[in-house]
Formats: sequence, C-alpha cells, structure tokens
Amino acid sequence: MKIAATVLDREEIEARVKVLGQQITEDYQGKKLVLIGILNGAFIFLADLAREIQLAVEIDFIRVASYGKAAASSGSVVLRKEPDLDLVGKHVLLVEDIIDSGLTMAWLREYFLTKQQVASVKTCALIDKKERRATDVQTDYVGFNVEQGFLVGYGLDYAQNYRNLPKVCALEL
Ligand code: IMP
Ligand code: MG
Repeated sequence: MKIAATVLDREEIEARVKVLGQQITEDYQGKKLVLIGILNGAFIFLADLAREIQLAVEIDFIRVASYGKAAASSGSVVLRKEPDLDLVGKHVLLVEDIIDSGLTMAWLREYFLTKQQVASVKTCALIDKKERRATDVQTDYVGFNVEQGFLVGYGLDYAQNYRNLPKVCALEL
C-alpha cells in the first residue's frame, strides 16, 4: 500500500474552504448556527472552515461508528458520542470529511431531525465521492467532487494513519 497521486493540494483546499465559509456566512445571517464535526475525520476541515465563517457559531462534535469492511460503510451506524450542546431551536450544520455511500450522513440527518428539536439540519462535506453512493441523501455544501479512489490526508485516514498530511492523496490499496 502506498500513497499515489495528489488529488487536492493545499492551496486549492484553502481557496475552496474560503468560498464555502463565505457561502455559509451569507446563508446563516441572523441565525443560531451550530457546527457539528463528525469525528475523527472532520477535525481539520472543521478547524479551517470555522475560521472562514464570519458569524457567532457554536461548535460541537459527534462520533459514530459504522461496522463493515475496513474501507467501506456497512450502513449500520452506532452512536459513540453525542453532542453536549443544547441544540433546541438551533440550525445545525453537519461537517464531514467525505461522503461515500452516504449511509452515515443519512443516519445522522435522521438522528438530528428526530432526536433533537433543531430548527434545521444541513450538511457540508469536503469531498463528495459518488462512486459508491447508496442513498439519495443530498449534501448542501460540497468542497470537491471526486469520482473514485480511497483518499487520505487533511483529516482522512486509512487505519488511523495519514490524517496529518496537509493535502489529500489517493491511496493505492
Ligand atoms: P459513508 O457512510 O459510506 O458515506 O462513509 C463515510 C465515512 O467513511 C467517512 O466519514 C469516512 O470516515 C469514511 N470514508 C469513506 N471514503 C473514504 C476515503 O476515501 N478515505 C477515508 N475515509 C473514507
Ligand atoms: Mg468519517
């Protein structure tokens, strides 16, 4: 297994995150916005995105596990850590590193819509990878569309490695 080509370099990620931050700033004017990072993958993206949003925001995290083969989601999602913030009446923006099958995001949307009395739930993913999409879940803010491949870096891991790469690379499995 080795790191193959660079898929997204540092500069293009930075430029795109700025634009996403501007869009979110415009869309959530006057609203109580809470960014919910999906651990662990979203930690770097959330840190950069949050600093491009020119609004008062609250930030919290959720952790879920999905059981299945190492590089693919099974769809059976288990909640590992709930957000601690009171989300009643607030606008939730779920921040994710990558949407693959979409099963995790579909589960999370449902969780926030039913378990907590939130005002709205939207999703923001750095990468939308459509190759293995298994739901019709829509991502409201997408950084990049990538057709295929297993990606690492900028928070994305393979077996907990490579998260600290400053860019996104494809892994040759
Ligand atoms: P989904 O439920 O199939 O959409 O899975 C989403 C989760 O799988 C992401 O939050 C990632 O943790 C992981 N994942 C999917 N594709 C990749 C990838 O290419 N690299 C690293 N993690 C991935
Ligand atoms: Mg993840």
